[in-house]
Amino acid sequence: MADPKALIIPAAGSGSRMRKETPKPYLMLEGCTILERTISAFIPLASLRQVVVATSEALLEDTRDLLKTILPDHIDGLAVVGGAERQHSIRNALDQIADEAELVLVHDAVRPFVEHRHIEACCQAASEVGAALLGVPSRDTIKHLDDQHMVRETPPRSQMWQAQTPQIFKKELLTEAYRRAEEEDFTATDDASLIERMGHPVKMVEGGRMNIKLTYPVDLELASLLIAKNRK
Ligand code: C5P
Repeated sequence: MADPKALIIPAAGSGSRMRKETPKPYLMLEGCTILERTISAFIPLASLRQVVVATSEALLEDTRDLLKTILPDHIDGLAVVGGAERQHSIRNALDQIADEAELVLVHDAVRPFVEHRHIEACCQAASEVGAALLGVPSRDTIKHLDDQHMVRETPPRSQMWQAQTPQIFKKELLTEAYRRAEEEDFTATDDASLIERMGHPVKMVEGGRMNIKLTYPVDLELASLLIAKNRK
């Protein structure tokens, strides 16, 4: 029997980089919202028992309705109000995770193209190591800059990977990492960073290049093309 799992979806971003009034996860993409597509990618996951979406106060009811419509009976759906930063949104969702969950998956609301086989591989690694994330080798050389935009160093590209989601953790480990980050007033742009700074190992699992984070207007055009291609 696989570990009982809970999924947290941070969806409370304002979407300013997309230059739209509607927050990104709630934009329509070829007939349904990005959020619906994203959550649907996780429904076939074995032992998924709970989905918690962090959203804005204004979209709380719409999100509850969406969860009711798309989730099968064996998966419990909850919507909570998010916070000012992604990390605060996840903190609020983490408070609602059911006791029975052993693994917690965190996945950006705006990554609808994650593949099932990669989610499974990441769950397997998280069960073994305690913490795992999907990513891809960086195709570009990465420059580390100083505050004046001068290049400080060029880390070897073969060691540079782009972090994606899902990022998957044993529940106790993630809860402890969030407790410490809050205590020490530390914020990061992903969850794995909070585990790393505790000195705990985190495993990188190779994911897919299509698991993009829909961030800029051009990404929506790319997303429509991907959906059309997947329909063929
Ligand atoms: O801003 P960023 O690209 O890191 O957003 C990644 C995800 O985090 C998005 O799904 C966004 O809706 C969510 N987010 C959130 N609460 C915030 C900021 C971002 O749930 N305060």
